[in-house]
Amino acid sequence: MQQITLTQPDDWHLHVRTGDMLKTVINHTVRQFARAIIMPNLQPPVTNVAQALIYQQEILHAASSQYNFNPLMVLYLTNSTTVEDVRLAADSSAIHAFKLYPAGATTNSAQGITDLKAVFPIFAAMEEHNVPLLVHGEVTDADIDIFDRERVFIEQKLSVIHLHFPTLRIVLEHVTTREAVQFVQQAPDNIAATITPQHLLYNRNAILVGGIKPHYYCLPILKRETHREALVKAATSGNPKFFLGTDSAPHLSHLKENSCGCAGCYSAYAAIELYAEAFDAASALDKLEGFASFYGADFYQLPRNTQHITLEKTDWQVPDNYPVSDKTRLTPLKAGETLHWKLKESVA
Ligand code: NCD
Ligand code: ZN
Repeated sequence: MQQITLTQPDDWHLHVRTGDMLKTVINHTVRQFARAIIMPNLQPPVTNVAQALIYQQEILHAASSQYNFNPLMVLYLTNSTTVEDVRLAADSSAIHAFKLYPAGATTNSAQGITDLKAVFPIFAAMEEHNVPLLVHGEVTDADIDIFDRERVFIEQKLSVIHLHFPTLRIVLEHVTTREAVQFVQQAPDNIAATITPQHLLYNRNAILVGGIKPHYYCLPILKRETHREALVKAATSGNPKFFLGTDSAPHLSHLKENSCGCAGCYSAYAAIELYAEAFDAASALDKLEGFASFYGADFYQLPRNTQHITLEKTDWQVPDNYPVSDKTRLTPLKAGETLHWKLKESVA
């Protein structure tokens, strides 16, 4: 049997929600990852240090004490965020970044930013205090095609932010296009990107061929094959600007299988296995450890983990769903399919 051992990885982009959903998903993450960047797009959003500390406690309470999980908290940037909020975040060891959602771009982004220029003083404070800016990089203009929204955001918005704040550390989250890869590659070291498992494994045919498949619908939406190939190349290149961020985004099954289905793929149940599948398919398993376990920690200026995990090459079947409450379910990415890599239980 083939197996690989990796320094324990971290997830640099994760949604865990609250309540029953949090209890359903959190231990899937905790058994693999030492740390995760926790997205703040709750309803209402996590906008200040006090709210983030309460949310962090809820996560820690839900997480199995068998593992030593560290949730890294992020604040949601709104039109009302102040320079003082940035200073307080910089002073808090619990807070690791701010997240920019253009208003209306994705799930729970209604309180996001409507006018980028208006938050330039906040970016200036983040640059001064060395607080990273995490970006959902899509424009929201009704006349821009959904498949072009990331490219146009980079051209019209991200390049402008980077120009005005050249030393601001920025993570372009869940990149989905060749243009995003090129932008990040050409930028200085303070610009990085996360890549999800679904964008490495699938192109847009997964959503639309043979019927509408809502469990492949996430934002930014899956793109055509040439973009997927560019992402695989970037992830497996050994370039430290690209690192693991699942964007695992659980929604109840009936809210995805709906006439207006929610955006988000649930991948946390087998995140590292899904990445192993993608890296194996590219004959690049030797590049997985850097991507999953080193480059994100380095970018966030945190120590690399010292524990290890082991994956074995063995087939196992993904459950059709996970129960969330008596009546509700969560459908994972690749529900009912066979995965070829499996995490051995213990962290050592
Ligand atoms: C995320 C969610 O559901 O919170 N959805 C998604 O499709 N990725 C939000 C996000 O990261 O865009
Ligand atoms: Zn996300």
